[in-house]
Amino acid sequence: MERVQGIALKYKEKIPEEFVRSKDEQPGITTVKGAVFEVPVIDLSNPDEEKILQSIVDASQKWGMFQVVEHRIPGEVISKLQQVGREFFELTEEEKEVYAKPLDDGTLEGYGTKLQKEVHGKKGWVDHLFHKIWPLSAVNYQFWPKKPSSYREANEEYAKWVQGIGDKLLKWLSLGLGLEEDDVKEALGGENLVYLMKINYYPPCPQPEVALGVVAHTDMNIITILVPNDVQGLQAFRDGLWYDVNYIPNALVIHIGDQMEILSNGRYKSVLHRTRVNKEKTRMSWPVFLEPPADLQVGPHTKLVNKNNPAKYKTKKYSDYVYCKLNKIPQ
Ligand code: SIN
Ligand code: FE2
Repeated sequence: MERVQGIALKYKEKIPEEFVRSKDEQPGITTVKGAVFEVPVIDLSNPDEEKILQSIVDASQKWGMFQVVEHRIPGEVISKLQQVGREFFELTEEEKEVYAKPLDDGTLEGYGTKLQKEVHGKKGWVDHLFHKIWPLSAVNYQFWPKKPSSYREANEEYAKWVQGIGDKLLKWLSLGLGLEEDDVKEALGGENLVYLMKINYYPPCPQPEVALGVVAHTDMNIITILVPNDVQGLQAFRDGLWYDVNYIPNALVIHIGDQMEILSNGRYKSVLHRTRVNKEKTRMSWPVFLEPPADLQVGPHTKLVNKNNPAKYKTKKYSDYVYCKLNKIPQ
């Protein structure tokens, strides 16, 4: 299986045809110029928690995405996470292939190049690694790189901190729906909620204007907490237009995913997003996906549904939702 990292080394001027997007997808011609809107940036150190809550609710309704700053995860914890991830991708192909995703065994975990089936056989300019980081009972260490040797420690440390932020966000999102603060988390698995780490690795691309890293999609999980490196590339879709999401040092990018949209019965919206790639630089990102346990039934929260507000979404097992989404079967 050829990885994009290897392809990038071979094609220095022109990329293979399967990476050239159709005109209606090419970022060079479909990105809004002189944008008037911007994905909101929310300061979590604001002593006025009511204000934080309002901003989160507003952003989750209008964009389905926001950035948070002053989130208290130490810069050092994040830079270690980034360093060990970068070192993993700098290993030789043989060393990385040890962690390759097993073929068709139903797991997302492992090293790989492609997730959703794409129409017309097009490909994204990106490789990835997936592994769960929490709860410990769900972790498969076979997918955690042994090299560099500090990989495990750096990821365990980040796992602790990211749960703190995850809990806070779920609490605010719950209060924002007029529910008790624990209702959202409880409905999505409580302490069994899964934290799945992904590393995206986007090598330099000689034709960034016509290629995409990750193709337009909404995240299928609950919420996503993402650390980028300093290479601009994430874009969010709003009201028919594609906006660049500004890179802000030390910020975390939060995405509302499909399960959160469903649980909120459509009050929050999952954000359509995609990524651009860069001509000279390697872009990387570390999204952590908060997911319900695979066999949990998720649907609109019972407290939000009544005669006047009927359920707008089906209730179904999360694993069934994932299966349909990855195979493009209508939900
Ligand atoms: C993704 O949606 O998986 C990628 C987002 C990013 O790299 O910023
Ligand atoms: Fe995504």
